[in-house]
Amino acid sequence: MKIKEQVNSQKIYEFKITNGTILSIKQQNDSLNHGTTIWDSSIITARYMQHLLRSSNDSLNDKKCIELGSGCGLLGLVMCSMGLQTTLTDLEYVVINILRDNVKYNLCILNQQRKENSCLLNAQVKVLDWTITQLQPPEFTPPYDYIVATDCIYSLDLIHHFVRCINELANEKSIIFCGLERRDPLVTETFVNACKNGFNVVKIPEKRLRKIISKDLDNDISNVNVEIYRLKKKNH
Ligand SMILES: C[S@@+](CC[C@H](N)C(=O)[O-])C[C@H]1O[C@@H](n2cnc3c(N)ncnc32)[C@H](O)[C@@H]1O
Repeated sequence: MKIKEQVNSQKIYEFKITNGTILSIKQQNDSLNHGTTIWDSSIITARYMQHLLRSSNDSLNDKKCIELGSGCGLLGLVMCSMGLQTTLTDLEYVVINILRDNVKYNLCILNQQRKENSCLLNAQVKVLDWTITQLQPPEFTPPYDYIVATDCIYSLDLIHHFVRCINELANEKSIIFCGLERRDPLVTETFVNACKNGFNVVKIPEKRLRKIISKDLDNDISNVNVEIYRLKKKNH
């Protein structure tokens, strides 16, 4: 991830993806809102997901992905670039001020780079508030095959809303990845315990994660304390 351009409080970062395509993700530093910054856990989780999906034998074009708390949209755009039909979501302020533009711009770039006979990539942007939304059709169409989120676990008050939300969006086959920066151990432990009621929870081993990202990242963020959790809904 490199800075391409900086104008006043706005920075544009470049993120290389497969076949030489580069995503340009804008962030705003002056908004006093978490969602207009690209957080380290999204960069690391995006690289991890690229690695994982590249080595999967599954056809991804018929798979649906939803991202919660997308912010500037890096991870959702990477999921989309791998062929998944992706819905990126956030609160209205973030959707209007950064997410919608980042997705529109990059979807255009991604589709321009597609080979003539391959189908166009598809990404949608929607407002989704974990505390109030009813996640029903036609707006949302659970179950999603992949549910992803990064740096959304930072406030004790939001954890049960977030977990309820992924529970509504998933079925037993859905694969859920949550990347987070371990700041306050209490927050992380509360999240993991809240998930354990309804989900099988596996933390991606740190050694494995470091091995994957150290090969791939342009700049060194390997010292950042990022953890990725893989969840699968339990059969009841
Ligand atoms: C720390 S930012 C992470 C942004 C992005 N995922 C990243 O890693 O760069 C947390 C995100 O969660 C979103 N968020 C916070 N509360 C939310 C809620 N109640 N419903 C939906 N999104 C929420 C914020 O708007 C913000 O985009």
